[in-house]
Amino acid sequence: MAIPGGLLIALEGIDGTGKSTQAALLRDWLAGLGVEVLSTKEPTSGPWGKKIRDSAVSSRMSPQDELHAFVSDRQEHVRDEILPALRRGAAVVIDRYYYSTVAYQGARGLSKADVLAANRAFAPIPDVVFLFDLEPEAGLERVTGRGQGKDLFETVDELSKARENFRWLARTNQHVVQLDAAQAPAEVHRALVSALVRGPLLARLPGLAAALTVPPANPAYALLALAVQLSADASLLPQERARRLWVASVAPVGR
Ligand code: TYD
Repeated sequence: MAIPGGLLIALEGIDGTGKSTQAALLRDWLAGLGVEVLSTKEPTSGPWGKKIRDSAVSSRMSPQDELHAFVSDRQEHVRDEILPALRRGAAVVIDRYYYSTVAYQGARGLSKADVLAANRAFAPIPDVVFLFDLEPEAGLERVTGRGQGKDLFETVDELSKARENFRWLARTNQHVVQLDAAQAPAEVHRALVSALVRGPLLARLPGLAAALTVPPANPAYALLALAVQLSADASLLPQERARRLWVASVAPVGR
């Protein structure tokens, strides 16, 4: 399904990779650019989401029932929140999306291709998916360190399979960008923003292109303005553009 407008950014990865932290950092960064942001997550807090959370701590559903529950939750989420926000031209940052269904329900034996097809029938394809990649043991350590305990979705064996499925998605889909989640949160955020400003996506957001002509008071604008300026300079090789942007993202532009 084609995206009606706005920008859809999904954050994915196994448990404990720091998705929620990165979602908050990205939301604040986009809001700092003056963009309307909808920050949301799956499973949702709606009736299907509640059913899913209850099953994770009590008796696990069959893979088929689980697929049905996640897809039903997503159908409501897409219809009631995601599509209206995209139509308004907002940037939607979503913490887990159908790539999680491919990874986790795929890990329980369902066909990855079938799960993908069932979701793509109704759910818009994101402009970009950031996959936070991490060893399952490291992820579990972070989760248990948070005192949340393990639930039934989170055994090492299952997380290893889910991680492999996520990596398969990154290999087979150009819009899935894999990032090393073992780095410090600030480093991961920097890598994510660099990847975002290097592409053409941000310029699609209403008002942002105009804002770029204003002298940059905000360092995030400055980086973005530099990215636009570099992409317009045909005399530079792509590697040189990437290098200059990387240098600027390490040392704020103009200082
Ligand atoms: P999680 O993001 O950990 O939610 P919360 O922080 O509210 O507990 O998601 C709960 C679990 O659901 C997580 O282990 C991954 C799993 N999951 C699936 O198995 N399939 C899906 O489609 C989604 C969205 C999540």
